Amino acid sequence: MIDINTIEQLLEEWMPHEDEGYGLLSEAMRYSVLGGGKRLRAIMLIESFRLFSGDTELERYTACPFACAIECIHGYSLVHDDLPAMDNDEFRRGSLTTHKRYGHAMGILTGDALLNYSVEIIARAGELLEKNKPDYYVDNIRNFMHATSILYANAGAFGMIGGQVLDVEGFGEGAVPDEDMLSKLCELKTSRLFQAALCCGAILAGADKNDVSLLEDIGCKMGLAFQIRDDILDVTASFEETGKDAGSDEKNNKSTFVSVFGIEKAKEKVKELYSEILDMLGKLPGDKNAFKTIFEKLYSI
Ligand code: IPE
Ligand code: IPE
Ligand code: MG
Ligand code: MG
Ligand code: MG
Repeated sequence: MIDINTIEQLLEEWMPHEDEGYGLLSEAMRYSVLGGGKRLRAIMLIESFRLFSGDTELERYTACPFACAIECIHGYSLVHDDLPAMDNDEFRRGSLTTHKRYGHAMGILTGDALLNYSVEIIARAGELLEKNKPDYYVDNIRNFMHATSILYANAGAFGMIGGQVLDVEGFGEGAVPDEDMLSKLCELKTSRLFQAALCCGAILAGADKNDVSLLEDIGCKMGLAFQIRDDILDVTASFEETGKDAGSDEKNNKSTFVSVFGIEKAKEKVKELYSEILDMLGKLPGDKNAFKTIFEKLYSI
């Protein structure tokens, strides 16, 4: 499996340097992206690529920059998620949240800059591919454009951002959401980026439609299980374990699988999803050991 240090090196390669640009913006962008994190989405993207291709050059020119871009998108989503107008949290990855460290306005601007920067990475990667590997470019530009469209559709208004809207708007005063409503919320705010990671990796490697569609379904369940687990940890885990303020959901009156169905039911749901995911994974080609390791990582904390 691609190790986390390789992802850190890639990010180091693609992120702006601290002294670039205006004021403290580059520093705050680096603080928000390089300051830890499990790198699940980047790892999933590259491992999904590797299920379908062993071409290391193609991986370097396509899957690697996409992996950095998705970590920038994820990073921006966290910076904005922590803002006072949203979850109003003070700690992330064991350190102060970006707005606590750099001020509210810089929190907003850093998130904006990271989202824009993700596009800059992908556009630059496309140019590098054309310049350095013109033959690859001709063969792969269709996949590259398709993966770009999948990434931003999943991250956008009808994907992750839409889910964050449902999350902050809630279900109405006193309303108790049912399982379908809660699943929809988690699938939008969390699964969509997992699905983008798995699908983009596969598309960039030239996987066929059926496999991409299976990965989309796997990502949907993985994200749901991951968000339910995050909601459980919000109640049961300490700051030392998660690096985040415990009890954030209760503080914000969030409806989650845990608040509606209780911890035990939520844990059962995660287990159920986990076994469904393993079954689906069996239908994919290639060596799936890396994915089994990702699951362990996913559910380790
Ligand atoms: C946090 O995601 C946001 C959720 C979807 C629950 P991660 O737990 O993957 O965050 P990092 O990148 O490892 O900090
Ligand atoms: C965040 O969900 C999902 C995002 C799209 C950022 P949470 O609000 O539960 O994530 P944490 O617990 O702050 O990491
Ligand atoms: Mg939130
Ligand atoms: Mg939050
Ligand atoms: Mg949470």
